[in-house]
Amino acid sequence: MNESERKTYRATARAHANVAVAKYWGKRDTNLNLPLFDSVAFNIEGLVTETTATWNDDDIHDALIINAWQVPPHAMGRIQRILDDIRTRKGWTKRCVLQSHNNFPLATGLASSASGCAAAAMAAAAAAELQLDQNTLSSIARLGSGSAARSIPAGWTRWHAGSLSDGSDAFATSIAPPNHWPLHVFVIQVSDAPKNVSSTECMLRCQKSPYWEAFLQQAKKAADIAQNAILQRDFPALTAAIHQNTMCLHALTMTCTPPVCYFAPKTIEILQRILRLCQAVPVCCTLDAGANVVILCEDTACPFIKNDIIALGLPFIQSRIGSGASVT
Ligand code: PMV
Repeated sequence: MNESERKTYRATARAHANVAVAKYWGKRDTNLNLPLFDSVAFNIEGLVTETTATWNDDDIHDALIINAWQVPPHAMGRIQRILDDIRTRKGWTKRCVLQSHNNFPLATGLASSASGCAAAAMAAAAAAELQLDQNTLSSIARLGSGSAARSIPAGWTRWHAGSLSDGSDAFATSIAPPNHWPLHVFVIQVSDAPKNVSSTECMLRCQKSPYWEAFLQQAKKAADIAQNAILQRDFPALTAAIHQNTMCLHALTMTCTPPVCYFAPKTIEILQRILRLCQAVPVCCTLDAGANVVILCEDTACPFIKNDIIALGLPFIQSRIGSGASVT
């Protein structure tokens, strides 16, 4: 047995979930998860996935263990692509065991796939002793879940759609660090049930909605509008951008065939409340492909908003704009 075979290739990385203010919705390449347009998001410090990757010569399959539960090999899904990519870069036949812990529920619209794939990409690359720059790591994370590209860089991020067919220019970069605009983030868990239609499936259906072209026109402008609001710390502009983008996305999902409605009754209650409040206090909200609501607010509104959220009687996390993925 040579030295490389005896050696333990292991590393641990952590990544945060991210939530978009200008959302990714539609792929120019389904295989490589290449988006049709740019998106802009922020990481959430309190929603974390920590993953340990170990490469070995003994197993015949890669393995994924999430919160102590082993995922069957056929259900590893797109995380397999991340490991295949790293294996190809190394010229290895080794297999990888990924042991992952989330501090929040999976597949409920809380972007667990984003933090999960970003942590997996960073841990597996570090364990394989690959020296990769942040853009390359973001592209590798993207192979697992598109939005995971945005969980690699820190703070406020932009995922560039790129134009190359191999996807090498479709990675996310940081547009501002977490302390650039230290807003408060509340994540309200309206439901802990997995969503009934995956983002990928719903994106495909949406392209046949009668409103697809109108959505596309708006969505292509959304990243620039959101980025400007963030760079200028312009809360009213951010509020207008995030609400329009969120509503356009959900209007679209409701008009595909068969229709998809990610809202739960409590989602609508919270939405209506925030849409009323945002006219008087600096608060806004969004939701991804799921029922849970993410609220952003400025310092002045925080105590009042928190009391309001407590009164809902639902589990919630209070957090801040988060850091990027890192090896621990
Ligand atoms: O990365 P995916 O395939 O889970 O898609 C994410 C889609 C949204 O969360 C709804 C939007 C976004 O930009 O994160």
